Amino acid sequence: MPKNQIIYVCSQCGNESPKWLGKCPACGSWNTYYEEKIVKEKGTAERKNITSQIVKLSEVPKSEGKERVKTGYDELDRVLGGGLVPGSLILLGGEPGIGKSTLILQICDKVKFESGPTLYISGEESGTQISLRAERLKINNDNIMFLGEANIELIEEAINDKKPAFIIIDSIQTMYSSDIPAAPGSVSQVREITAKIMKICKQKAITTVIIGHVTKDGTIAGPRVLEHMVDTVLYLEGERYFSYRMLRGVKNRFGSTNEVGLFEMREEGMVEVTNPSELLISERDGNPAGSVIVATLEGTRSMLIELQALVARTAFGLPRRTGQGVEYNRLVLLIAVLEKKLGMQLSDQDAYVNVVGGMRLDEPAADLGIALAVVSSFKNIPLPKDLVAIGEIGLTGEVRVVNSIEKRIKEAEKLGFKTCLIPQNNKKQLKYKGNINIIGVANVNEAMKTCNLK
Ligand SMILES: Nc1ncnc2c1ncn2[C@@H]1O[C@H](COP(=O)(O)OP(=O)(O)OP(=O)(O)O)[C@@H](O)[C@H]1O
Ligand SMILES: [Mg+2]
Ligand SMILES: [Zn+2]
Repeated sequence: MPKNQIIYVCSQCGNESPKWLGKCPACGSWNTYYEEKIVKEKGTAERKNITSQIVKLSEVPKSEGKERVKTGYDELDRVLGGGLVPGSLILLGGEPGIGKSTLILQICDKVKFESGPTLYISGEESGTQISLRAERLKINNDNIMFLGEANIELIEEAINDKKPAFIIIDSIQTMYSSDIPAAPGSVSQVREITAKIMKICKQKAITTVIIGHVTKDGTIAGPRVLEHMVDTVLYLEGERYFSYRMLRGVKNRFGSTNEVGLFEMREEGMVEVTNPSELLISERDGNPAGSVIVATLEGTRSMLIELQALVARTAFGLPRRTGQGVEYNRLVLLIAVLEKKLGMQLSDQDAYVNVVGGMRLDEPAADLGIALAVVSSFKNIPLPKDLVAIGEIGLTGEVRVVNSIEKRIKEAEKLGFKTCLIPQNNKKQLKYKGNINIIGVANVNEAMKTCNLK
């Protein structure tokens, strides 16, 4: 049995290999293997009388998961599926500086666990830093305790001592166990520590939030490895230089993963955005050419978002296409469809598309809006005022059905829009009439004609 064996670990998925590999056979990532020294202790499993532990599933007490603890933020409760499930393990991931610690500290302030205090454990910030943040966020809560420690063995002691009901680990990448020779943040540390935390939190029914960093390229030992181990995975996303932050559930053992919470990062902390549409289209000034409103769906909620396109003659060489908040490939594809189906000459035109407010529009239902904005800018003809466009565009130029059409129409109606351009096939099945002019279009040609762009 070799004592200090060297193994190679994939930083993406934690797959291990005795030799270095360029490509991970488990997850397919390139160049993610790195060397790790490992002392594997094969613990002798305790021999228990296992048959005595087998119980009837119907007889297992069901108290756990029944009552939820409200976080004090409706946006977050919705994403969690109604609140925190006591004793659950939650992973909150996000890029550095996006606002993870801020959001969690605010939750610590609002959340009320009857059975014990809240313990905020930080391995990356000192007590002074956290208390400065608390001061800025106007948090003064005697129920929150702070521990600046990164050693999991000491943390375990503290937990046994203080018996908290709610623990924050900020962040998992800074924590280490002295049993493991690898550096903090390495896959084996992260995995081991999470397993330890999981054991503590499940045994004592402590609700735990683990904060994890993810980088853009995802090369560090990311929370990806952890996602399998925890109950709930939330991601806090947003463009760095915009103030909106989206909280997205990507895994939830106690609820749906469709929901999205919207926050705004302000001086006084994360503020819930309960009327996103109003906010996102509030800066629209008149209806200039190239601007369009689309109704997107975030979770079960519809949001109106402004989309802008600028089409201008290419100075030289290849035309540029850039999409901010929309997928580049989608944009290129839509432009190709417009060229082919409308006979528009866009090959000598640069096209820039931008989603206002730093939001992302990944949904194909935004296609019709993108197409209209591009053509509107190209022809320099504004789209009809009070128009909302909804629809996916296929390769042959057809406008395809989208889901939850009614919700989108209602959102448009609520915000005072007068016309909704929707897929023809959606219109056929639509029962909702409402107080809004609903126009069904079958293809891009029809859509352009309806908007006087042809
Ligand atoms: N005085 C302030 N006013 C407004 N916003 C601030 C102020 N101070 C900090 N912020 C915002 O808070 C962000 C940092 O938040 P926070 O520390 O919660 O993020 P984090 O995700 O925990 O970051 P890290 O990865 O560094 O732990 C900054 O990027 C900045 O946008
Ligand atoms: Mg932080
Ligand atoms: Zn891998």
